[in-house]
Amino acid sequence: MSKTEDKYPPESGRRRFVKGVVGGAALAGVGAGGSVAINSATTSPGRGGGSTQAMAIENIAGPAPRGMPQIPLEIDSEGYLKGVWPDVTTETQNGIEIEIAEMDLGGMTYSSEWFQYCGVEAYQGIQPSYESDNYFRSDSGKYEWQTSTYESGDRLHVDDFSDYTEWGNGIGDDGLGKPATGTWRSQDSSDTIPIQVIRSPIIEEAAQENEWLGASTSEGFIAWLNKCTHFCCVPGYKIAADAAKFNAEDDVYCQCHQSVYDPFNIVPTLFTARPRPD
Ligand code: FES
Repeated sequence: MSKTEDKYPPESGRRRFVKGVVGGAALAGVGAGGSVAINSATTSPGRGGGSTQAMAIENIAGPAPRGMPQIPLEIDSEGYLKGVWPDVTTETQNGIEIEIAEMDLGGMTYSSEWFQYCGVEAYQGIQPSYESDNYFRSDSGKYEWQTSTYESGDRLHVDDFSDYTEWGNGIGDDGLGKPATGTWRSQDSSDTIPIQVIRSPIIEEAAQENEWLGASTSEGFIAWLNKCTHFCCVPGYKIAADAAKFNAEDDVYCQCHQSVYDPFNIVPTLFTARPRPD
């Protein structure tokens, strides 16, 4: 899919609408009427989609309409990081059987719809029954430590992040957390789902008192789908030296149009998920 097709059509007004419904009061006030209207407008043609509440790393500046969706994760018995993919079931909607990937997790409903924006809804890896081992794998690496530790495709391992309470690379403050970039559910597929992880003492502490973070993070690791909700660029944490110009040297910064996200503040985010194409 081309970059232009990834973007929301400017004339649709959809982004303005989405921006309008994000926020505490609107979130609480979404009733059945609103949801039905959204669903009937977006489920045909295609599967799933519609009004969705995701947990996201908060958007704090720039033109992005909302945060980027978190990917719940776990660490296997050998210390490798993997994303959690929701349980897959089949439902009948409008007389058609469709597959749904959805589960209860940490007091929330976690679903594959969290990732259905920016064209990702058409990626193979986002289809509910796509077969994957769900491991987070290194990409070519955006950090010196990462390129000297991993080949592209290697699985991320907890031991490689052991200096997370001190790590730094000269951008912003040291000791906030150790990052890596990677891919998820993208093996044997022409579509690459970009992800970012950070192992952070801030997340480790927050997870002790928060049901959602307790269930969706592990040993201080947090992950998200790394696609800017503005126009779908791939942002980065402590990657761009010019982030400091926008006060974002300790945040996730998108170089395309200077959107800034706070990876240590996880918020509920309401948006209209795109249906998966038939
Ligand atoms: S700020 Fe525009 S794509 Fe990220």
